[in-house]
Amino acid sequence: MVSAYADLEDGMRARLGGRECLYVPSCRLGLYLALRRWCPPGGRVLMSPVNDDVIFFVVLAAGLRPVQAPLDPRDGSLDPAAVPDAVWSGLSAVLTTNLYGNPDPAPALRERCDRLGIPLLEDAAHAIGSTVGGRPVGAWGDAAVFSLSKHTGAKTGGFLAVADPALRDGLAAERDALLHPARLTKELAYLARPYAESTARALRLTRPAHAALRALGLHERPAVRMPLRPEELDRALGAAPSLDPFHSWVRVDLHDYRLRPGTGRLGRTRRKLAALDTVLDAHRAGTARLLASEYSARDLPADGAAPPLFRVPLLVEDRDAAVAALARRRITVGYLYDPPLDAYAGERFTDPSPAPEGAAWFARHALPVDPRRADEALAALRASGARPAVPSPALGGAR
Ligand SMILES: Cc1ncc(COP(=O)(O)O)c(C=O)c1O
Repeated sequence: MVSAYADLEDGMRARLGGRECLYVPSCRLGLYLALRRWCPPGGRVLMSPVNDDVIFFVVLAAGLRPVQAPLDPRDGSLDPAAVPDAVWSGLSAVLTTNLYGNPDPAPALRERCDRLGIPLLEDAAHAIGSTVGGRPVGAWGDAAVFSLSKHTGAKTGGFLAVADPALRDGLAAERDALLHPARLTKELAYLARPYAESTARALRLTRPAHAALRALGLHERPAVRMPLRPEELDRALGAAPSLDPFHSWVRVDLHDYRLRPGTGRLGRTRRKLAALDTVLDAHRAGTARLLASEYSARDLPADGAAPPLFRVPLLVEDRDAAVAALARRRITVGYLYDPPLDAYAGERFTDPSPAPEGAAWFARHALPVDPRRADEALAALRASGARPAVPSPALGGAR
């Protein structure tokens, strides 16, 4: 039987130089599948502490112990040279983040994982269209996961890409066993949401709506990090590996993350994917302008071709003031990941980074700007007098 997702999967396979791809209703569900398939329960996974907390809870749900990695303070990428041998030797897998689309050093990580005999798993949620070492991000790992909620803007869906095509059918069966049945009410809510959002924006109701949810205690993410709820989390860990006990953490920002998609949802996904190359071009153009600014510690690549970053992490001295300056121009800054996961969750739930300073500095100073609003954002920052932040060499990072 031809799968309902075959055309979507074919398109993604072509982007990844022929890698087998499996449609999933969210990147987080794809990651859960990959962690369960490639890591033994109780295993230790090296990951970035400057990351969405949802990903942290997916690692815990898969019955694994997160191990936080040192980061390059200039762009938040993993710094493999700063990981001590004692940490490498205890790992079951490495999970990259490719934060905001900036590639982690996949060739070096691939080589290290091969030497250790452990899998490399790539989270390419932010990095569709980025390349590293001459290959697409997502074509280095034993498995890679993509989100169609980021550049693509479908607010649903993703892919699990695998190096070994023989694994595809088994993974498809594991995916199907995790799916909740399609529901007409959810499908209609999904289809109506963009209209409801644009009406709220037109009526300038977005902020009052958020404030009301916060006041009622209904906001799942009242701050950058969601509440940890350590006692409940301890109980959930006793039942790992399993998604159900972690549902209230893993669903945050995407309640339909394990819902079987209906035809309306897939139709919108197809239309959004058809426009992806145009979107990536717009991201490339804005990224070039932002990387050339005084607020970037990174230069354009030597060939002058900017990557299509999902967000460009500008570095500013006073991030809160910069966020406020952009908000006054109606530019919303999202995708902040501060504090780093080891400071957020503590040693009860994660191994802390052996060298946390670079990550802490980056998390505090990074201002992720949507490159499609590069000119407006730069004008607002300059007009507000925002000062660029420069990481000191003592913070580490490959120079
Ligand atoms: C780095 C990263 N990985 C994965 C995800 C999850 O993607 P999805 O919402 O498609 O599950 C997110 C979500 O924001 C993310 O920021």
